[in-house]
Amino acid sequence: MATTNEEVKYEIQENPSLTELSCFLENAFNALTPGDQASFDVENKGQTLKEWLDIDQVKDYLKHGFLLEARNEDGKLLGIVLFGKQNPISWPDGNKAEMFVLAVDSSTRGLGIGSKLVEMAENAAREMGAKSLILSTHVLLTADHKFYEKLGFVKIGILKEYYGNGDAVFYSKKLN
Ligand SMILES: CC(C)(COP(=O)(O)OP(=O)(O)OC[C@H]1O[C@@H](n2cnc3c(N)ncnc32)[C@H](O)[C@@H]1OP(=O)(O)O)[C@@H](O)C(=O)NCCC(=O)NCCS
Repeated sequence: MATTNEEVKYEIQENPSLTELSCFLENAFNALTPGDQASFDVENKGQTLKEWLDIDQVKDYLKHGFLLEARNEDGKLLGIVLFGKQNPISWPDGNKAEMFVLAVDSSTRGLGIGSKLVEMAENAAREMGAKSLILSTHVLLTADHKFYEKLGFVKIGILKEYYGNGDAVFYSKKLN
């Protein structure tokens, strides 16, 4: 039977398996929407998606960030969002949280799992005292841009050559 969002459980994971997480992210980021995948294949400047999303960066982020997971009834990992305070060392104005990575398994996209993960990250950010939630994503992930815009995120800028393989687009959403 196909998974529906009602059957999905969402939980903060405090002891993630890095092997499972790494494999999940590699699969998710190697199954972009076809147009975006094609752009990446042509314009990746020698850096693979796996290198772009290095598991060591994720491991470092987990030291101060939170990992929210979506799993089906059998325990299969269907989606993740990794989020936390922006610049946790100083958190200068104390009011921004960020989403570091968001991904949903390619077989269960379009069911609302990604939207639910973002909504839960927004709620957790509000509880931390954040007034806005920011994120950066690759300029070539156009389907992803539409997804964030639909959820109320506003484009706040582009940083040229921010990633090893191209420009980053920054988005922000006010948390009321
Ligand atoms: C972007 C992503 C997290 C969305 O997750 P999702 O569970 O499919 O999202 P939802 O079901 O809540 O929303 C679906 C919407 O996202 C959009 N979308 C973006 N990429 C999509 C994809 N590959 N497949 C299906 N829908 C996608 C659709 O336009 C859809 O909008 P619609 O409801 O108007 O048709 C998911 O597509 C994904 O993991 N993509 C690859 C990894 C990625 O780009 N991560 C973010 C980089 S920072």
